Amino acid sequence: MKLIKVKDYNELSETAARLVLEKVKANPDIVLGLATGGTPEGMYKRLVEDHRSAGTSYKNVTTFNLDEYAGLSQADPNSYYAYMREHLFDHIDVPKENVHLPDGEKEDLDAECIQYEQLIKEAGNVDLQVLGIGGNGHIGFNEPGTPFDSHTHVVTLDESTREANARYFSSLDEVPTQALTMGIQTIMRAKEIVLLASGKSKAEAVAQLLKEEANENFPASILTTHPNVTVIVDEEATASVKSE
Ligand code: PGA
Repeated sequence: MKLIKVKDYNELSETAARLVLEKVKANPDIVLGLATGGTPEGMYKRLVEDHRSAGTSYKNVTTFNLDEYAGLSQADPNSYYAYMREHLFDHIDVPKENVHLPDGEKEDLDAECIQYEQLIKEAGNVDLQVLGIGGNGHIGFNEPGTPFDSHTHVVTLDESTREANARYFSSLDEVPTQALTMGIQTIMRAKEIVLLASGKSKAEAVAQLLKEEANENFPASILTTHPNVTVIVDEEATASVKSE
C-alpha cells in the first residue's frame, strides 16, 4: 500500500482528483469504480471544474458505483444515483448508458446483484476504484464479518453505518436498513484502488488499516494484499497512527 499524507481535506480532494484525471487522460476508455459519501465530494467538485475549464472528456468512460440503498428509487434525493447526478454525472459528458449503480428498487434484489456483478465482468472489471472507509472499516457497504470472497450482494447495514449516514435524512428511521454493494472480491478485482480518508472520525480506522493483517472483522484490511493501492489521508485522519 502506498500512503500519501496530505495536510487537509482540500489537499486530499486535489490529490485524489489529480490522480483520477491522470488515469482518465491516459486511458479515455477507463472503467471507473466510484464511491459516494462526504469524503469524495471535494474530488468530484474538482473533476467538474476541470471538465469545465480544461475539457477533459468522459465520453468513453464507464462507471460502476460501489453501492446503493435498497428500497430507494433513483429519483429519491437520498439515493446514491441522485448523489452521483448532483455531484458528477450531470456536470460532465459521461453518457447516461455508461453509468451504473445497482438498482435498489428491483423486486428481486439478489438477481439484481448477480446482474451487476456480470456487468462489471463484461466491462473487463474496474480499472480504478475510488473508496472511502467507514469508522468500522467497511468498504462499500461491506460491514465487518463480510466474507472476503463475496460478490455484489444485499447487506443489512450496521447501526453505526445508519447513524453515520442519518445526517442526510430527516431522521434515523428513514435511513434504509439494507443496501446492495459490490462485494470484497468485486472490489479486489479492480486493477488499481485509491482509498480516501479525512478527518478525526476516521483516525481509528486509518490506524487499524495501517497495522492490521487481512481479517474479515476489519474489511478494509484486505487492501493490504492488493498489489496497487494508494491511501490518501489528511493530518486529522492520521492522528491515531503510532510512529514506531
Ligand atoms: P463518508 O463515508 O465519506 O461519508 O465518511 C465513507 C464510508 O462510509 O465508506
